[in-house]
Amino acid sequence: MAGVPILTLNDGNTIPQLGLGVWQVEPAITARVVRDGIAAGYRLIDTAEGYDNEQGVGEAIRTADVAREQLFITSKLRNGGHARDLALGSFEETMLKLGLERLDMFLIHWPVPGQDKYVEAWKTLVELQQQGRIASIGVSNFNRDHLERIIGETGVTPAVNQIELHPYFPQRDKRDDLEGRGIRIESYSPLGSGDVLEDETIGGIGKAHGKSIAQTVVRWHIQQGNIVIPKSTHAERQRENIDVFDFELSEDKMRAISGLDRGEAGRTGGNPATNNDTF
Ligand code: A2P
Repeated sequence: MAGVPILTLNDGNTIPQLGLGVWQVEPAITARVVRDGIAAGYRLIDTAEGYDNEQGVGEAIRTADVAREQLFITSKLRNGGHARDLALGSFEETMLKLGLERLDMFLIHWPVPGQDKYVEAWKTLVELQQQGRIASIGVSNFNRDHLERIIGETGVTPAVNQIELHPYFPQRDKRDDLEGRGIRIESYSPLGSGDVLEDETIGGIGKAHGKSIAQTVVRWHIQQGNIVIPKSTHAERQRENIDVFDFELSEDKMRAISGLDRGEAGRTGGNPATNNDTF
């Protein structure tokens, strides 16, 4: 199996283009799931304080057959922790749970506009990066107005914006803006949380390459240049989702998949403009 490409971020650090997402992985099975992923070849692991499974990720890091330096670990600041003192405390808890001295990437999970503290959270992440505790800092679920504010107030551009992105919700309007700013797009719910796995158009395209729908969709993300983090608790599916480097989708096929866009109806998760949940 050909290797996962390595991308360079706007801060000069590098990141594997394909990783394992662990949203909705039960805490009790997380260590096993992440160990399976590492054995399958995943080096980027994407967790969050809000997933309640950082401890399991930490256990997997400690017990895996791969050196810590070869792994790229991402976590995300919880919504209720945007104030500076809370963010610093939350970050320390994350590091204890993961058992790490230094984190590869830390993201603001949601802007939570109703709370209006994401600029303070961003300043705190900048501070932690300057102290060397975090290599790369970024955001998740940020719209253009949120990005403009944090960049305007700090002069620091996030390395990535992790957003919901899949064939039914390709968010093409965001693409040019993020590319223009040098911010990498990281696709979460890349399989539409499972929604796209029955799609006949994608099925037909994949079949011509001897690939499953999941593989075809992961490949579609890769060819757009996005970082992509499919989730599966099954070792067999994890192996399937990373086995996407021996075929290529033509421009026509890429366009056909992008054409499945359902606009707002395709969204499976929260809307960043209105999501004010504080976990
Ligand atoms: P499971 O974890 O039981 O394997 P997303 O990454 O968009 O959030 O999608 C994750 C969903 O897709 C989960 O329900 C996961 O189920 C399922 N899934 C992931 N990979 C595959 C695959 N290769 N085949 C079928 N289902 C998959």
